[in-house]
Amino acid sequence: MVAPASTHRFAPRRQVQLTSADFCEHKYAWYRWMLEEAPVCAGRISVLRVSLVSRYGDCRAVLTDERFVRNRGRAKGRPNAGPAPFPLPKSVAAVATGMIVQDDPEHRRLRNLVNKAFTHRAVERLSHRVEELSRELLDGLAAQGSVDLLAAYSRPIPTRVIGEMMGVAREDVHHFERSIGVLTRGLSGVSILRSLFWDLPRTAAFVRALIDRKRASPGDDILSALIQAEEEGDRLSKDELVAMVFLLVVAGFETTLHLITNGVHTLLEHPDQLDRLRTQPDLWDSAVEEIVRHRGPIHTTKPQYATEDVTLHGYTIARGTPVLPMLGAANHDPRAFEKPDVFDVARSPNHHLGFGFGNHFCLGRQLALMETRIALKNLFERYPDLHLAIEPGRLELARIPGWHRYQSLPVALR
Ligand code: HEM
Repeated sequence: MVAPASTHRFAPRRQVQLTSADFCEHKYAWYRWMLEEAPVCAGRISVLRVSLVSRYGDCRAVLTDERFVRNRGRAKGRPNAGPAPFPLPKSVAAVATGMIVQDDPEHRRLRNLVNKAFTHRAVERLSHRVEELSRELLDGLAAQGSVDLLAAYSRPIPTRVIGEMMGVAREDVHHFERSIGVLTRGLSGVSILRSLFWDLPRTAAFVRALIDRKRASPGDDILSALIQAEEEGDRLSKDELVAMVFLLVVAGFETTLHLITNGVHTLLEHPDQLDRLRTQPDLWDSAVEEIVRHRGPIHTTKPQYATEDVTLHGYTIARGTPVLPMLGAANHDPRAFEKPDVFDVARSPNHHLGFGFGNHFCLGRQLALMETRIALKNLFERYPDLHLAIEPGRLELARIPGWHRYQSLPVALR
């Protein structure tokens, strides 16, 4: 659980280790320290050195300042360098070069094409399916006294929605699930070789075959729309389509599942706010935005790389080095939010950074908000007495840099 800043000692450790248990369990206390005393500081992700920027205004600046780029090679004057500092299998390299790690004009071109497929109407159409799915899952829980809500409810909703978006049969969704792990957990750990040389290439082959099938007989899904998306005679190549499918699946699946889970936990921690939603259900939209601000799942963007030495608050970010705008900290910056540590379902305005900022602002925001609103509202309507089945202090946070997510969420339904 989050420790109050006063009980946490930071002074001797100027370098923030994002993979440490200490940071993972006390990240909001670390954020308070960063916001007040070290607005730009040195950090590490395991052995990788990074610079961390925590204040709201500075995060927005770093995400829009042209001296920072996404393409790691470009910052060092080698724009054609691969996506990783070591050689990757060809199919994996294609996956790792999605638009989220590209700069304009390449990024703009890809984003325009995907925007054509990701229309408001396509998302709206999915909302009926999310309603149905959530009710089906809640019916299925009725016989059980307690469950891991993450596995039984939060996970299946976005998994099936992404599957349907892409026109993937339900029995094939596991192809993605296995590969997603390595892409979100980062390139470390012993299973990395298996993932890089087995799971990812197999999933890439599955996606290629799926693209061929959709090209031959298009369906009423976003992948078919992506294949056909055209702007001024330009289309996505096959490698670009594969990378886009991976990006959409990775960006849209684990994020939403953990937003739903964090939302349940946050509302259980704030029964007064849950009561408010019961009497004022029109507050659900702003409540979900507030959950993203207060306990969103994504706490950093992809690294931005400095193209020249940049000095901020007396700290010099050296050319070519990665900088992480700490969205989770910025969302609790008192310079931007009144009483930032208070969870207020009616907060307005609420210009949080939980969906990023600038060119790479989340493409799936509307879909994520819709899925989460329906999932939470239906859950608390159906099981009004739902409560945690273990002591809050025993809930385990995953030690994954850039995330705020639980390993499981055991709840009693009645
Ligand atoms: C709770 C749910 C979600 C959260 C908190 C979230 C958060 C974010 C954040 C912080 C970024 C910026 C990353 C960066 O600058 O490096 C981003 C980008 C992106 N998100 Fe989301 N996201 C969510 C759901 C979704 C969904 C459902 C989709 C699509 C199915 C999606 C698709 C994307 C894409 C494609 C990008 C990259 C955009 C670009 O590079 O132009 N996201 N998201």
